[in-house]
Amino acid sequence: ATAPKDWDRPLEGKVAVVTGAARGIGATIAEVLSRDGAHVICADIPAAGEALAETANKVRGTSFPLDVSADDAGAKLAEHALERHGGIDIIVNNAGITRDKLLANMDAARWDSVIAVNLIAPQQLVNGLIEKGALKEGGAVIDVSSIAGIAGNRGQTNYGASKAGVIGLVDTYAPILAEKGVTINAVAPGFIETKMTAAIPVATREAGRLMSSLQQGGQTVDVAETVAYFANPASSAITGNVVRVCGQGFL
Ligand code: NAI
Repeated sequence: ATAPKDWDRPLEGKVAVVTGAARGIGATIAEVLSRDGAHVICADIPAAGEALAETANKVRGTSFPLDVSADDAGAKLAEHALERHGGIDIIVNNAGITRDKLLANMDAARWDSVIAVNLIAPQQLVNGLIEKGALKEGGAVIDVSSIAGIAGNRGQTNYGASKAGVIGLVDTYAPILAEKGVTINAVAPGFIETKMTAAIPVATREAGRLMSSLQQGGQTVDVAETVAYFANPASSAITGNVVRVCGQGFL
């Protein structure tokens, strides 16, 4: 590992992209990476508009409307980053969606959209950056998985499968990216208070909290600080890991 030049601003001079940065966990990740000194490209769907601009205004960064599930998302991001910043050091694949239904009613459209955003996009973005030479040596890829990808969750076969897939992606990419001096790790949050979980019925939410060994849900900052650790050059010897944040499912 390399010790940062400045421990107070370990990401000084680095360029990070955070997907799904308009709100929730992604917005807090953008704030924390900016606090650590990075320039943050805040990416989210074009419809996120004002919320995305708000995050970008709060941090040392810029907003970049991007639907991560579009076929050319990786190429677009790479071109933007090369033109404006000469490349990217840190990519946080945080954008994610749920389309819950009990298994009997789980239609193909729900599977496809969740797999496209949560699983295919994180891989295609990284591939797009590599193909265009936009992912810098010594960089870090951080994927946001979920405890549902480790322990499963009723009504979330599509989501759980996509998030388990992310863990497989991290395992597979670790040795490949290591050849380029890039690390890849995942965080697997338990129950975190955001707009995504606000949509869950209260009783289910309460059950989710109690599944945690800590018997409580987490805040977005709990996830963001874990992401910041993987982004820090001091963790450059750590790759292929999944860290649970606020909860261990039934394990
Ligand atoms: P959220 O719904 O509050 O925010 C997600 C953001 O992603 C939104 O701004 C949305 O516009 C953006 N997004 C969705 N589809 C996109 C696309 N195609 N392209 C670009 N941006 C897109 O969700 P939250 O809670 O902040 O979740 C963030 C990540 O953390 C997700 O990957 C989620 O699956 C994961 N997670 C969340 C947990 C929680 O308890 N809140 C638990 C475990 C994982």
